[in-house]
Amino acid sequence: TQITWKCASGQSITINVTAGQSLMEAARDHDVDGIFGDCGGNLACATCHVIVPPEWVELTGKPDAMEEDMLDIVETGRTPTSRLSCQIVATHEMDGMVLEVPGA
Ligand code: FES
Repeated sequence: TQITWKCASGQSITINVTAGQSLMEAARDHDVDGIFGDCGGNLACATCHVIVPPEWVELTGKPDAMEEDMLDIVETGRTPTSRLSCQIVATHEMDGMVLEVPGA
């Protein structure tokens, strides 16, 4: 599943993500700028913030209540389609998706 991260730094990186892997893990493994995943995917750090293009939201789903609370404290401006990428699990259908990584 090819997914692209477009970073505030100008970096654009396409990663071949294994289905079942979280998008935070895939990004962290490839040193995507702006994705830190400090808490290891436990919804405790909000350093894995991405913006999902509206046309892909149906596939990525919506944040649950705990993720909502964490999204409220992201330091990189929350948007209506912001997600914490440790909570998005890659599927084959996400092939071609382009995520935006907001800058501080
Ligand atoms: Fe910490 Fe996603 S990795 S909230």
